[in-house]
Amino acid sequence: PRRVRIPHLQAMKEQGRPWAMLTAYDMYAAEIFDEAGIPVLLVGDSAGNNVYGYDTTVPVTLDELVPLVRAVSRAARRALVVADMPFGSYGGSLQQGFDSAVRFMKEGLAHAVKLEGGEPMVPLVRLLTDAGIPVMAHIGFTPQSEHQLGGYRVQGRGDAADRLVEEARALEAAGAFSVVLEMVPAPVAARVTQALTIPTIGIGAGNVTDAQVLVWSDFAGLRAGRTPRFVKKYADLRGTLLDAARTYAAEVETRAFPDPEHSFES
Ligand code: KIV
Ligand code: NA
Repeated sequence: PRRVRIPHLQAMKEQGRPWAMLTAYDMYAAEIFDEAGIPVLLVGDSAGNNVYGYDTTVPVTLDELVPLVRAVSRAARRALVVADMPFGSYGGSLQQGFDSAVRFMKEGLAHAVKLEGGEPMVPLVRLLTDAGIPVMAHIGFTPQSEHQLGGYRVQGRGDAADRLVEEARALEAAGAFSVVLEMVPAPVAARVTQALTIPTIGIGAGNVTDAQVLVWSDFAGLRAGRTPRFVKKYADLRGTLLDAARTYAAEVETRAFPDPEHSFES
């Protein structure tokens, strides 16, 4: 299958054809979503709270993400693989951001990187794109700044809408190939989508963006407990695996497994 590339995503925007993005952190998820035709896979820093067991994305490091990016890149035959720059790997200086992105490209075999932030990120987006590293921007609610933003809140309401549009424009002008809009009112997401020539990717931003993204463990029902309002569960993998593990344990305990079919008799 032909690799999805940035011009394909651009063409879909021009044709008004929305597309889906999912996160992936390992080989099986990458293989399955790739086979399903998901054009873009994000190795999110959401690995922090979906792989490594942290409460938020803040603690996860570049060293922890690089091997996951490499696994996804090796498994995805068609999807464009985006590596998410973790907190503390790019906010300190342009050099730091450049070095982190290069690690994702060289060691992680990524096709692009993603980073959070508006105007302050413009110089880094320009530097990376000039160096040949495609950048997916991420504005609205940015989880790495949750302590600064005062928790999970919808962004871009009221007067902040104009600023969000301006930020998105500035990131596009700096060379970003797409922009994630997280937790913004749908009418504001529609304004940003119309203002940009590059694709917008929504999460909690209504059905008006050029693309959508969900965290795979949320969308597949792997996570226990409450999920945010913007998550739709498309499967109940947690229930499926619970049943499977319980049945397996019970069959071992009663010696029902392994039966002759799963044994070597001579
Ligand atoms: O880390 C992540 O999974 C993300 C997406 C939700 C956009 O940043
Ligand atoms: Na992220």
